[in-house]
Amino acid sequence: MSDSTYKTLAAAAAAGAAGAAITGFGAALDLTDAAAIWPVMATCAVVGGLLQSAKSSLGGMVDNRTRTLRERLEDLRRSVGDIHGLVRIQPLAQQLPLPIGGGWALTGDAAAVLVREAQLRKPRTILELGSGVSTLLLGQVLRNAGGGRLVSIDHDAAWAARTRENLKLMGLEDVVSVVDAPLRTRTVGEQRYDWYDIPDAVLDELGPIDLLLVDGPPQRSGDTLPARFPALPVLGPRLSDDALVFVDDADRAQERTMVQWWLEQDAGWKAERHPTVDGVCLLRRT
Ligand SMILES: C[S@@+](CC[C@H](N)C(=O)[O-])C[C@H]1O[C@@H](n2cnc3c(N)ncnc32)[C@H](O)[C@@H]1O
Repeated sequence: MSDSTYKTLAAAAAAGAAGAAITGFGAALDLTDAAAIWPVMATCAVVGGLLQSAKSSLGGMVDNRTRTLRERLEDLRRSVGDIHGLVRIQPLAQQLPLPIGGGWALTGDAAAVLVREAQLRKPRTILELGSGVSTLLLGQVLRNAGGGRLVSIDHDAAWAARTRENLKLMGLEDVVSVVDAPLRTRTVGEQRYDWYDIPDAVLDELGPIDLLLVDGPPQRSGDTLPARFPALPVLGPRLSDDALVFVDDADRAQERTMVQWWLEQDAGWKAERHPTVDGVCLLRRT
């Protein structure tokens, strides 16, 4: 029997009992006839059951509508964030092959923060964890600034190949390379992580990193351990003195924990949050 049937029966029984009790009390005081108890009880039970049933149907309808409305609002929030950001980086966004993103890329407003920081700081070397739209944007920023080097790391060979195709399409191969780096178990601190197996030669050749973009590897849903935590402990020694670390998805619980652990372990960094759709956190040395 379903939960709502139980509730309807319980409401009918309670209303019937209440009706019978009140009528019995009235009969004891000679205000009514004891023969009225059974009809009143039956009537109250039916009315009580009907009222409870109507209440749960209405409640279910309101819940469904509220859920739909919440989902629509979230879609709208993401779209507004995307549009707002894409308008700000319009000349770069116009070059992007369509369709872009598909829910996995930086949102438009986060992309705008990334592009602005890259244009202001003019990094010569960029290391990106997780390739995609951001790779195509940063590649354009470097090319427009007259050069530099972006190495984008991806654990997913098919996705990496797709990013390479897009780079070729946009003529960005001279400034960007996408490196396949399958995930391997790596112990950092006392925890084991699935972390990119990046050949040392790739990082040695890149040299001190001016901008580190942390947007991979994927965070498995339900896993509370921040999958991207190794980024700073592992790559920190390779960052230049005035390096910028850009963290996407910074509002997610795991990324919040990750940044908190980084700051606890190294007081030499300070974090600045940007209220984009999924949150961005920028870290600089103090
Ligand atoms: C987290 S995204 C990083 C995106 C990139 N920084 C950007 O802004 O576009 C990269 C990873 O997401 C995964 N990915 C991207 N698009 C996907 C899709 N549509 N479905 C499943 N996985 C996808 C790929 O495996 C890839 O390694």
